[in-house]
Amino acid sequence: MNIFKTKKALQTHLDTYKQTHRIGFVPTMGALHKGHLSLIKKAKEENDLVVVSIFVNPTQFDNQEDLIKYPKTLQKDIDLLKTVNCDVVFTPDVSEIYNNQIVSESFNFGGIENEMEGKFRKGHFDGVGTIVKRLFEIVQPHKAYFGEKDFQQLQIIKKLVEITNLPIEIIPCAIFREDDGLAMSSRNTRLTKEQREAAPFIYKTLKKAKKKFGIKNAEKVTKWVQKKFKKNPVLELEYFVIADEHSLKQIDKKDKNNQPRAFIAVYAGDIRLIDNLAM
Ligand code: PAF
Repeated sequence: MNIFKTKKALQTHLDTYKQTHRIGFVPTMGALHKGHLSLIKKAKEENDLVVVSIFVNPTQFDNQEDLIKYPKTLQKDIDLLKTVNCDVVFTPDVSEIYNNQIVSESFNFGGIENEMEGKFRKGHFDGVGTIVKRLFEIVQPHKAYFGEKDFQQLQIIKKLVEITNLPIEIIPCAIFREDDGLAMSSRNTRLTKEQREAAPFIYKTLKKAKKKFGIKNAEKVTKWVQKKFKKNPVLELEYFVIADEHSLKQIDKKDKNNQPRAFIAVYAGDIRLIDNLAM
């Protein structure tokens, strides 16, 4: 496995493969878990060479405290990447990506950037768009892999390749869950024992909401979810929204013109957890 810290060294290495090898790319912020490894395994199956980036991108954090506390486990990540035969790891410093200007580009993703995560995390998707575009330009992969836990991010990235005309196929990968249903996330490692025990309530509530949505409209289901979380002493609901998978606009009822999916964001102390489920 080759590890590079600079764009130049990475690109020189990849140049020798570009003409003959299909390159798969998995961008990450490190603190890798089984969910990331499943993306890498899929990328290995579908490509000749797999590049993983590990970069905690400062511009996508709307909260400095969250950036500081974001788990950083580089050596452990590298050991894990060896177990799945990752070919190339790119671990740039902030200055390598941003020079001395740690600012985002401003994007118009057609409005999907203003829903849900965009409403609650100002500037988040400009930060995501900036880093993913830069990484795509550096790595120039044929395919790039993203988990559906960040479903809105996945839609944003599909839009990004469309508006920038980058010839990259975006491959969505199903959410990877713990045995008790909690969606895998790097942030889960920060949960206290009490918070970790409480957290599966998020997915359980999503599943119950799905059953209710067959009979009740979105407003009623949303009120039911809000009531459930009010009674939970450990988890605080930020939002629960049933929206169309493509427009990400809220919907009231299932019909032939929409594909409903429930989206949720919850705080356990200062740790923010998100999840979603097709309805
Ligand atoms: O999903 C993530 O880990 C990040 O948002 C990404 C796509 C690596 C960009 O920093």
